[in-house]
Amino acid sequence: MAARGIFITFEGIDGSGKSTQARMLADLLRQAGHDVMLTREPGGSPGAEDIRRLVLEGDPDRWSAETEILLFTAARRDHLEKTIEPALAAGKVVISDRFVDSTRLYQGITRGDLRGVVDQLHMMMIGREADLTFVIDMDPGTGLARARSRQGGEERFEDFGEGLQAQLRDGFLELAAEFPARCKVIDGDRDPQVVAAEIAGIVRAHLG
Ligand code: ADP
Ligand code: TYD
Repeated sequence: MAARGIFITFEGIDGSGKSTQARMLADLLRQAGHDVMLTREPGGSPGAEDIRRLVLEGDPDRWSAETEILLFTAARRDHLEKTIEPALAAGKVVISDRFVDSTRLYQGITRGDLRGVVDQLHMMMIGREADLTFVIDMDPGTGLARARSRQGGEERFEDFGEGLQAQLRDGFLELAAEFPARCKVIDGDRDPQVVAAEIAGIVRAHLG
């Protein structure tokens, strides 16, 4: 039987520290001798990185929520085929900075109730959930200030402001309650090393 790896995702509002924590976990697991694939969404494969540019650059009203669901799912399908599935089949620990929970919230709740559409398309085209999801919880104002302190042209969703981030934060907490077996809520408003230590403890327990 082919070796199966483990699939870990990081979710949460912009600026909550997902990328920082994903990187720290990857480093820690590598030091412990694990074969790790660190990846991100939107993106994580050449085709999906092309789609990333389409969805994250330009006017915030460029796409409808429905079109975005299709674009993010198309990117995810390529990411799954080219990056995630091969790595899991090779027995690697795959760590993704965002996955379908982001679509469930950013496209699923912020511009009408499209969560059912996201879930149906996900079932049809992706059909995989993470084994373990860290929801980094954070005050929206702090998260937004952190996100804005970064440079770059990818600001479409951050641009929607603090009200939207607050709605997303509540949504992430509800989602974690909906999937308690895989989702762990982590307080992100602490020293990065402290947050990383808590996450590492949960992953170690999971890896057995
Ligand atoms: P995300 O990927 O969730 O948007 P990042 O990991 O990119 O968040 O972090 C956003 C910004 O906040 C970065 O400048 C990062 O260095 C900083 N940061 C990350 N974690 C913490 C933390 N625990 N405390 C203070 N600043 C942090
Ligand atoms: P990301 O690069 O993770 O941004 P940040 O580091 O600020 O959290 O993601 C870029 C943006 O894409 C982010 O605002 C969330 C959004 N996004 C969606 O709207 N839907 C999705 O399915 C994904 C994966 C991301």
